[in-house]
Amino acid sequence: MTALTRLRLKDFRNYETLSLDLDGRHVCLFGPNGAGKTNLLEAVSQLGPGRGLRSATLADLARHDAGGAWTISATVDDRRIGVGLETDGTSSKRVVRIDGAPSQASDLAELIRIVWLTPAMDGVFRGGASDRRRFFDRQVMAHIPSHGTAAARYERAMRERNALLERGHVDPAWADAIETRMAEAGAEIAVNRAHVLEALQAAVDARPEGFFPKGDLSLDGEAEQAAMAGEDFKTIFETLTEALRTGRRRDMAAGRTLSGPHRTDLAVIHRPTGMPAGDASTGQQKALLIGLILASAAALAKDGEGPSPILLLDEAAAHLDADRRAALFDELCALGGQAWLTGTEAFLFEAFGDRAQRFEVRDGEAKEA
Ligand SMILES: Nc1ncnc2c1ncn2[C@@H]1O[C@H](COP(=O)(O)OP(=O)(O)O)[C@@H](O)[C@H]1O
Ligand SMILES: [Mg+2]
Repeated sequence: MTALTRLRLKDFRNYETLSLDLDGRHVCLFGPNGAGKTNLLEAVSQLGPGRGLRSATLADLARHDAGGAWTISATVDDRRIGVGLETDGTSSKRVVRIDGAPSQASDLAELIRIVWLTPAMDGVFRGGASDRRRFFDRQVMAHIPSHGTAAARYERAMRERNALLERGHVDPAWADAIETRMAEAGAEIAVNRAHVLEALQAAVDARPEGFFPKGDLSLDGEAEQAAMAGEDFKTIFETLTEALRTGRRRDMAAGRTLSGPHRTDLAVIHRPTGMPAGDASTGQQKALLIGLILASAAALAKDGEGPSPILLLDEAAAHLDADRRAALFDELCALGGQAWLTGTEAFLFEAFGDRAQRFEVRDGEAKEA
């Protein structure tokens, strides 16, 4: 099982210094609101590529009243990972070290894969398409780390295209070049999403029946649907290129790009009722979301392409009754990756028994309980 066995923080959020020695079991953090439980999960999430669980900027992560620099170091399956922000007063830069050697953030993906569920995701089925797309893309990134750079390339090209269209007078050769870059990145995005949707659906279907209902997932984007139907990268690229070219006049009138993978929505059907997830009750939506995240972690655990996932579950236990909590912990133990859970009270984690280590968090300190 992939597990953190050591976590050290310096000037991270509300932690001046913190040192946690872990024995490889699951980790339960309890303590009052504002103690620093979510900050700890956020610190773990910084050990992977990407911006972590709150999508914060690197500067936001520095402890107020400290100098602006922060570090997180951890031992994961006997490898030492360090990430941080270094600053010399005028400029600052992200640093990544693996076993003491300077490394790239993208190298982290080979050592650690992280999936999380936070209260901020609760409204995802009821929110707008962009919330669901972001939620799904986060799962895609956990499976395919290069998805993030494809998305960034797509966004950059799209901004250039929008700026060009806004000027009203378009040089066709220039537009062609930008649209080619957009279509290349867009096809990569679509192929990644289709791949992960299939893996995720298979993992959902393979989950035990029980308290966390299953969902049926689909993506409404044409490029993703073509990828799901087995069309190859080149065909999807050509279709996207053509759609951008023929859509220029329409997009010029609208002042932005109206079609493409940046508009894709994830549809989720609550299988027990056959209803769209957004119409399910709040409790049903929460349970469905837990099931999806467990499936995402299970898909990572069995894809053979990297370490088993670390699962961060912020405040997930509080809303479950005792039987559901016990079922959740049993499923976590079967997954093969270390889970980190938070809650305000220690009793929430009783059903873990001796399968988890517990820490009481208070004012930026954590004590083993
Ligand atoms: N950059 C920062 N520097 C110092 N304290 C911070 C920083 N960011 C957040 N905090 C503090 O951390 C606390 C919240 O921690 P959090 O982990 O969200 O609590 P909880 O235990 O409820 O999950 C708040 O008191 C907040 O003011
Ligand atoms: Mg919290």
